[in-house]
Amino acid sequence: MGQRIVTTGAVAGWCLVFALGAAAEAGQGTSRAAAAKMKNPVATSAASVTAGQQVYQKQCRMCHGAAGAAETPMAKKMNASDLTDATWAFGATDGEIFAVIQDGAGAGSKMTAFKGKVAEQDTWHLVNYIRSLAAAKK
Ligand code: HEC
Repeated sequence: MGQRIVTTGAVAGWCLVFALGAAAEAGQGTSRAAAAKMKNPVATSAASVTAGQQVYQKQCRMCHGAAGAAETPMAKKMNASDLTDATWAFGATDGEIFAVIQDGAGAGSKMTAFKGKVAEQDTWHLVNYIRSLAAAKK
């Protein structure tokens, strides 16, 4: 009985992996190449940056710091990315930043997926907010 449940779970897991792979190939998933091509549907504006900032303060600040510069002891401890610098380990395009927020930075990373927790529209606002931080620093 227990064995059967484990087997079923494994099969379901593999199906999911294949389904995700197929979606990525079709360009609907957020493989890195597909993500790079995604266009930000939310034009940046003061309203969008403010909306992004509100989500950021709730969901992201504890790890990336109030100013996004990974300036807090907590951020340093977990090696959270500085979001105000020019270094984008997971890609510098709007689509790639969107993808790392929605899908996370990979297995084992403290940067977990926010899919289901942060709406896609709000994620684009976050991208615009993050861009405003980098621009303000220049
Ligand atoms: C639990 C801590 C934590 C939270 C919460 C968190 N992050 Fe992260 N984030 C990280 C870490 C750690 C990394 C570095 C990932 C790595 O190197 O594996 C990262 C990486 C990133 C990157 C990639 C930066 C690059 O240089 O490419 C972006 C963008 C990002 N986070 C945005 C966000 C946003 C937006 C939120 C809120 C929705 C958020 N993060 C919430 C810990 C966190």
